[in-house]
Amino acid sequence: MPIFLDGHNMKDLSLEDLEKVVNLPKDGFGITHLEIFHNKHEDRLYCVLEAPNEEAVWKHHESLGLKCEFVTKIQQIKTEKNIKAEKLAILGELASDLSHDLRNPVSIIQNTVDLMNIKYKGKLNSDMLEAFSRINRSVARMNMLITGVLDFARTQPLIIEKYSISDIIRSSLDGIPVQDNIKIMMPENDISLKCDKAKLEVVFYNLFTNAIQSIGEKTPGEILIRLAKKEDEIQIDIQNSGPAIPDDLLSKIFEPLFTTKEHGTGLGLTSCKNIIVQHHGTISVRNNPVTFTILLPKDIAKITPTVS
Ligand SMILES: Nc1ncnc2c1ncn2[C@@H]1O[C@H](COP(=O)(O)OP(=O)(O)OP(=O)(O)O)[C@@H](O)[C@H]1O
Ligand SMILES: [Mg+2]
Repeated sequence: MPIFLDGHNMKDLSLEDLEKVVNLPKDGFGITHLEIFHNKHEDRLYCVLEAPNEEAVWKHHESLGLKCEFVTKIQQIKTEKNIKAEKLAILGELASDLSHDLRNPVSIIQNTVDLMNIKYKGKLNSDMLEAFSRINRSVARMNMLITGVLDFARTQPLIIEKYSISDIIRSSLDGIPVQDNIKIMMPENDISLKCDKAKLEVVFYNLFTNAIQSIGEKTPGEILIRLAKKEDEIQIDIQNSGPAIPDDLLSKIFEPLFTTKEHGTGLGLTSCKNIIVQHHGTISVRNNPVTFTILLPKDIAKITPTVS
C-alpha cells in the first residue's frame, strides 16, 4: 500500500486527542498511521501513513474535522537498520510457524519411542538401549530448540513457581552432549527462586552450548558455574576457559542474528536476553575469563504482582 506524509497545524488539537485519533482501528478510508512527529512547540504535526490513495488521506482528515496543510506520496529509502528489521519480522513469523508445526511430529516421535521402550523392556541389547537414549536426547534437544524459537518469536507469559536453580542447571545440561575434554564445575551452594523453569532452561542451554562450542574439542577446558545471593537479587555466573570474545564484538553478541559461526542462527543470546528481561533481570558478559552474568530479582512477584 502506498505511503503518504501529511502536515497539520495543531492549534485545535491536544496531543492526547491526537493519540486517540491515530490509534483508532482502520477507518472507512483504509488509513493506518505508521509514524507521527511533532515540532518542538507542539503546534505542527507530521504523519507518515499508509493509504490506498491521496484522496483517501484528504477525506480521512475531513471526516475528523482536521485541516491538512499538505499531503504527499513518499517512498521509503531502505537503511541497513530497517532492512534488518524487515528481515527479522519475516524470519520471526516463519520461524514461529515452523516451530509450531514441528511440535506435533516431534511429540509423535517421542511417544513412539516411549511405547517401544515399554513394549521391548528387558529385551533390548545395550546397542539398542544406547540408540533409544540417543533418540530421546535428540528429541529433547528439538523440543528445546522449538521452545526457544517460539519464545523468541512471541513473548509468552511466564509460568512462575519456586525452583532450585541447581536443578534447572542440571536439567538443561541433560540435553547437551558434553565432550570428555570439558569439565563442568557445578556450584557448591543452591538457591531457590521464583522463576519460569522451562524458560531458564533455554537460557542455560544456550549459554552452556556457546561455552562448549567456544572451548572446542582439542584442548581441555572447564565451565564454572557460581551462584550468589545479593541484597535484592541473585547472581549466576557462567564462566568458561575458551578464547576471549574480541572487544569490538562484545556489544554485538546479544543482537538478533549476530553470529560468528558457520551454522549459527545468532538467536541464542537474543533469546537469553529476552527471557532474562522478562524476568526483570539483566544479562551481561565480560572477558578474562569469558563470563556471562545473570542478575535476577529475588522476588519477581513483588515487581510483577500478577505473577504468583
Ligand atoms: N561463551 C562464548 N565464548 C565466546 N564467544 C561467544 C560465547 N557465547 C557467544 N559468543 C559469541 O556470540 C555470538 C552469538 O551467540 P548466539 O548464541 O546468539 O548465536 P550462535 O551461537 O552464533 O548461534 P546459535 O546459538 O543459533 O547456534 C556467537 O556466534 C559467538 O561469536
Ligand atoms: Mg549460541
